[in-house]
Amino acid sequence: MAIERVGVLGCGLMGHGIAQICAEAGWDVVVREVDQGTLDSGLGKIEKQLARAVEKGRRERDDADSVRARITGTLEYGDLADCDLAIEAIVEDLDAKLEMWREVDGVVKKEAFFASNTSSLPVVNQAVATSRPERFLGMHFFNPAQVMPLLEVVQTVTTGDDALRTGFEVGERLGKTCVHARDKTGFIVNRLLVPYMLDAIRAQEEGVGAIDEIDVAMKAGANHPMGPLTLADFVGLDTLAAIADVMFDEYRERRFAAPPTLRKMVAAGLYGRKSGKGFYDYSGDEPVPSELGL
Ligand code: CAA
Ligand code: NAD
Repeated sequence: MAIERVGVLGCGLMGHGIAQICAEAGWDVVVREVDQGTLDSGLGKIEKQLARAVEKGRRERDDADSVRARITGTLEYGDLADCDLAIEAIVEDLDAKLEMWREVDGVVKKEAFFASNTSSLPVVNQAVATSRPERFLGMHFFNPAQVMPLLEVVQTVTTGDDALRTGFEVGERLGKTCVHARDKTGFIVNRLLVPYMLDAIRAQEEGVGAIDEIDVAMKAGANHPMGPLTLADFVGLDTLAAIADVMFDEYRERRFAAPPTLRKMVAAGLYGRKSGKGFYDYSGDEPVPSELGL
């Protein structure tokens, strides 16, 4: 089935990026959020990035305006009815995702494909909660979705050939490097990357180095674009903790366990860059390491 209209659930860190790249690829996009303030904030980020692309001469103004015009924000599930593909990027919480799919499954046309951008939850659990498990797959984008080249196309035990092929075709149209991953918790990248971020938090807890020293060390010593604590803040500490819990529950290995510091920070509302404070404080011109007092 040709894709013409894409529905995106969630306009947070990942959802706004997914909505933007789908509109840039020429599809009509309808993005659903839970409240107007969050929706406006996500759409505002897209507008800012399009304006920046025009400023830098990477896009004509008319072209940027057309991309923006292809994106409709909504609070109503019913507005997704005509979508050919619905991609969810809501909070990493299985109950929330199941509740959301029940609504979406009830309104979106039967031929449409469904995809989850989950970082860690088994995709099949979401697939079987809908009436179309054979049309359901995982499409795991990376943050920021506008920039990171990878898409993990995740096949569950129920994913049919049409759905898998569509996942690859969509990824290619978006210019992504696509890898085929099985529906194992964490897929390929997070299986390796999440224990690394959690270990960096443990290293900080153990006093191996200060927050900025750990980050500088991994940037200068391993040529990573961001140090692991900056990356954890970038992913969102609430999301990282949710991912760690799912992975620990699955594998029962210490490397996947959320360290106490991470739990305390999440309890205190320190979610990283998106909340203004995490391992770093983002309130000034440049991020500065936080005094955690833990
Ligand atoms: N949104 C959209 N575009 C962004 C962006 C953002 N948040 N951040 C940067 N960009 C764009 C900029 O506009 C810029 O584009 P132009 O050059 O065309 O203007 C380009 O990216 C480079 O940006 P900068 O020069 O400002 O910054 P940089 O060179 O330091 O790159 C970065 C920024 C690409 C984010 C880089 O630091 C990086 O690759 N960091 C690691 C990111 C990473 O590992 N992501 C994976 C997280 S794990 C995950 O996603 C999986 C999961 O399930 C948790
Ligand atoms: P986020 O907290 O930035 O955004 C989630 C958004 O979902 C919020 O704005 C929330 O209001 C919205 N939402 C909640 N319930 C909804 C519903 N029923 N309908 C529509 N919107 C709803 O989280 P995020 O970082 O964008 O993560 C979203 C998903 O993407 C998670 O499954 C996460 O694991 C995954 N993911 C995250 C990253 C990352 O680096 N943060 C990378 C890849 C994948």
